[in-house]
Amino acid sequence: MDRKKRLISEDLSKLLIKQIAHELRNFTLYKSYEIYFGYLQIHDIEEYWHKRADEEMIHHNWIHEYLKEADILFMYPSVEDNNEMKPSDSISPFEFSVEREILTTEMIYKIREQAEKENDYMTMNWLDDSLIKEQREEENTSRAALDIMKSNADLFNKADQILDLLEDN
Ligand SMILES: [Fe+2]
Ligand SMILES: [Fe+2]
Repeated sequence: MDRKKRLISEDLSKLLIKQIAHELRNFTLYKSYEIYFGYLQIHDIEEYWHKRADEEMIHHNWIHEYLKEADILFMYPSVEDNNEMKPSDSISPFEFSVEREILTTEMIYKIREQAEKENDYMTMNWLDDSLIKEQREEENTSRAALDIMKSNADLFNKADQILDLLEDN
């Protein structure tokens, strides 16, 4: 790439634009789960998904800012639906979210590998400090919430514990 003209390569900007749509897709997945638990009137879990969705919007914002900083001109891609992760009961959203976070981590690793291939230390450093650091928490929270949902406590007690996972940090 011509370093005089661009901060990040075309390959990297393509991957980052794809990631922007993916983070928005995570946002709409968690907003859908917020609706589901609101409908079930389990308000602590409704609030949990509300907060998880807000975090996805923050991840989106990080990438948005980075692309802006790099002067990348682009139109937003469309966001895929999440119909394959439609809840069938109160546990399934928690299973799907572990799956989704693992996929998210894998996609971020691909961007990291591309940056490494290009010796783009700026992007590597930015990814390490933002999205990669964040994924550890995202995966752990998702796994902890699933474990709580699978435990034997009554549903409202579980809901309270799940919301606490986000209030600790
Ligand atoms: Fe995310
Ligand atoms: Fe996430």
